[in-house]
Amino acid sequence: MLISLINLSYLIGAVAFVWGLRLLSSPDTARRGNILASIGMGIAILATLVAPISGGDNNYLWILIGLVVGGGIGWVAAKRIAMTAMPQMVSVFNGLGGACATVLALAELFKYYDGTMTMGLGQLGIVLFTLLIGAVSFTGSMLAFGKLDGRIKDKHVILPGHTIINIILLVVVLALAVWLMIQGSAAGTGLMVVFLVASLLYGFSFVAPIGGADMPVVISLLNSFTGLSAAAAGLIYGNQIMLVGGILVGAAGTILTVLMCDAMNRSLLNVIIGGFGSAGGGSKGESGDQVAKEATVTDASIQLFYANSVMFVPGYGLAVAQAQKALKELDDLLEGNNVDVKYAIHPVAGRMPGHMNVLLAEADVPYPKLLDLEDANAALKDTDTVVIVGANDVVNPAALDDPGSPIYGMPVLEVWNAKNIIVLKRSMSPGYAGIQNPLFFHEKNRMLFGDAKDSIQKLVQEVKNM
Ligand code: TAP
Repeated sequence: MLISLINLSYLIGAVAFVWGLRLLSSPDTARRGNILASIGMGIAILATLVAPISGGDNNYLWILIGLVVGGGIGWVAAKRIAMTAMPQMVSVFNGLGGACATVLALAELFKYYDGTMTMGLGQLGIVLFTLLIGAVSFTGSMLAFGKLDGRIKDKHVILPGHTIINIILLVVVLALAVWLMIQGSAAGTGLMVVFLVASLLYGFSFVAPIGGADMPVVISLLNSFTGLSAAAAGLIYGNQIMLVGGILVGAAGTILTVLMCDAMNRSLLNVIIGGFGSAGGGSKGESGDQVAKEATVTDASIQLFYANSVMFVPGYGLAVAQAQKALKELDDLLEGNNVDVKYAIHPVAGRMPGHMNVLLAEADVPYPKLLDLEDANAALKDTDTVVIVGANDVVNPAALDDPGSPIYGMPVLEVWNAKNIIVLKRSMSPGYAGIQNPLFFHEKNRMLFGDAKDSIQKLVQEVKNM
């Protein structure tokens, strides 16, 4: 009876995960999707807590301590986190998922090596796989966190001949795994620790050379690794819900990786073995002997007021400035003046997949106003004024016309096809890829320097006074 109830709970949990994921696909239903998946997870945890375990009893005190400490940290972090730091938090949480899987695998291996448990070859292979993928996901995600947070620059972690180092490390890790399998329980904990350290090192080294505009790909890939490690841990324990949850995360991460590779127009192999160079930025308004033309708030507001169509291009700076609500206010004002307003969303704008969608949904921007890359590029030709709000790499024409550029080949928003361009940013500093943007010196472009929220609020005021 108890087992049937537990299985039924797992089934309900699994359906809640799948349905929750389905609802996450649109900003209108995403909140409900999140709640539904969380309820599914709650049911799964409760069912697992009451499930009998073979060879012993549940240690409820330790479980309770884990739940309180882990749940508490998660709750406080999610409450306190600034919207701009969300991608970093997602990276840390993802890495901790990998670390969990590794620790589970280690617990099994300790029992195996001290003789309290036996394992078949297949089972040992699964445990080693869990340890490897979990460890790679852990150190890789922690490095991704450091990079996203700006604490670690690519140049600090890329060594000369890094690709060769990575290949050697991968061969060492795989060889160790094979050796551990051949040795069986005779291998002992010493060799297991060597395997663990090598796996952790490989995770760090694997992510080190991937940077700049390629970060979205590696973040999605790490996501799928964590899912795979959780699924493998589910196999170790014969726990269906862990298996289903892990497979869902792994599959979602893999699909996202493919989408991000498409968005960058790069193959996964190319991302993994390619590294990004970087170029410095310039002072406000200048780069070399080129000078970008500036606009005043009055110039920009006149252009917006008399336009028939306006396209906003949000980027990471929108998140930093928290300018989404001010932007919606400007949008409402212009719409009230019969201006057709749309938003162009580049798939890698911001610092996490869907970053711009989340921000704009928070400001209640209607979803149909958001155009994806292809539709936006088609519409840009008929647009009077484009306002670039804290975006940089995603509107860099070098991606199309400079074969020497590190982002060459990445599809970008072709904003120069519109009649006028206004860029809102604070300086001439480069974006995440660390490269200068020739768009800023384009004849159609005017720079409106300042914090995006501050500039938009001034534009709102000016348009109101017209
Ligand atoms: P970026 O190219 O990073 O440019 C953002 C721009 O925002 C900066 O040039 C900055 O210039 C400006 N900015 C920052 N704070 C601002 C503020 N308060 N007010 C006004 N402007 C501000 O952004 P993007 O165009 O969105 O491109 C995203 C980049 O991040 C791509 O290279 C992408 O590959 C990478 N990336 C994406 C992801 C995901 S999953 N989306 C993850 C990791 C990395 P100033 O400092 O001069 O103001």
